Amino acid sequence: MEKYSILVTGGAGYIGSHVANAFAKAGHRVTILDTLVYGQQPPRINAKFIKGSCANSPLVENIFKKENIDTVAHLAAFIEVGESVKNPLKFYDNNVSATVNLLKTMALCNVKNILFSSSCAVYGPPQGPLCETHAKIPASPYGRTKLAVEWMIKDMANGIFNIVQSSCHPRLDLGSSSTSQEKLSLKLNNKQKEKVFLDCLREPRLISGSKAGMTKENIESEKKLTKNSLNYTIFRYFNAAGATPKQGLGEKHVPETHLIPLLIRAIQNNKSVKIFGTNYKTPDGTCIRDYVHVSDIANAHILALDFMQRTGTSNIFNLGTEKGFSVKEIINELEILMNKKALIKLCPRRAGDVSKLVAVTTKAKETLGWNAHRSSLKEILSDAIEWEQNKTLEKLKSLSRAIHF
Ligand SMILES: NC(=O)c1ccc[n+]([C@@H]2O[C@H](COP(=O)([O-])OP(=O)(O)OC[C@H]3O[C@@H](n4cnc5c(N)ncnc54)[C@H](O)[C@@H]3O)[C@@H](O)[C@H]2O)c1
Repeated sequence: MEKYSILVTGGAGYIGSHVANAFAKAGHRVTILDTLVYGQQPPRINAKFIKGSCANSPLVENIFKKENIDTVAHLAAFIEVGESVKNPLKFYDNNVSATVNLLKTMALCNVKNILFSSSCAVYGPPQGPLCETHAKIPASPYGRTKLAVEWMIKDMANGIFNIVQSSCHPRLDLGSSSTSQEKLSLKLNNKQKEKVFLDCLREPRLISGSKAGMTKENIESEKKLTKNSLNYTIFRYFNAAGATPKQGLGEKHVPETHLIPLLIRAIQNNKSVKIFGTNYKTPDGTCIRDYVHVSDIANAHILALDFMQRTGTSNIFNLGTEKGFSVKEIINELEILMNKKALIKLCPRRAGDVSKLVAVTTKAKETLGWNAHRSSLKEILSDAIEWEQNKTLEKLKSLSRAIHF
């Protein structure tokens, strides 16, 4: 397998740290860019860490050049659905506008591969298991930001990315077929190239004008030369769960809204566990979701990068297990594993919750040879419990250190 230099945005987060770790273990060179917006620590893995935002174009350009980045795994985003309803612009700004900046910088620097973390939140109401072609009707601003970025990436792969990056980028090798016009366009200095690039973004028809110093034929020939120059893999994760406690990697959202860590913490601390809705059309009346181990998600990135590079094709994949477990099933299994009874509080349904969300993952299996090997409910929950217990121990240790001082 070839080795790449990969920028992982959001690599200090829950899934990003696992993805970065998996890339590093596979022998790739990894650079993490993360704002540490939740006050979290950079993960202790074999990767270079840079604090900052993927919206910061000069910083990203500098990283691309210094680290010779050829691939971006873009996980940086705000993810809390409820907050996205209350404060949608915060989400459009960070999830969409920041990605516009990232893609522009990729185009400028000729970085041609992107793996993007999308979500099952892009799908409309399910009639059964969801495959990639199911209608996209996101129910929340969060889901709409994810779908907007999917569209943007696809549009970039098909259109202006190819033309602009080829006419603006200093490193592009046009080969023996380059004409004097094309060579002229390469003689523009970086500032001029950036201006042409930004002009093109504002007014795409300018690319056929004299500003880029190119004729229509040149553009057509460049289009051919750089066809498919942006390769993408879009993953639609279902419910990421589990942890890698031995490596100090796990879920640490602020605030935590995901079911499994909330349940574990409630049972640990003898607090009541809320079940929202018990009259759904499911065998036990509670909602069913598709939980996939975070390390299986990370592994899909390794396989997809290799596949994308070998075949030069772009794809969208669901990542889930096709099984699905109800809230009550999860509580029952946690009670067994934690050897403790949960204090259950029955609550009314929450607005927007659907009864069952389960993936069809045939495409990832057949195309990438991917399988959710570590995603049995027992393995997911055991790892999550160990992670939460380790965190509690860490807190107690630092408390006792503080008291000793
Ligand atoms: N957790 C899930 O179940 C799930 C499901 C579907 C999709 N996703 C997607 O996976 C990705 C990662 O999710 P997660 O659960 O690890 O979330 P997370 O909050 O743990 O990680 C996101 C990370 O991105 C960083 N970040 C945010 N904005 C940034 C910016 N502008 N520049 C640089 N860093 C920035 C944060 O500091 C954080 O470390 C997200 O894109 C999310 O939409 C997650």
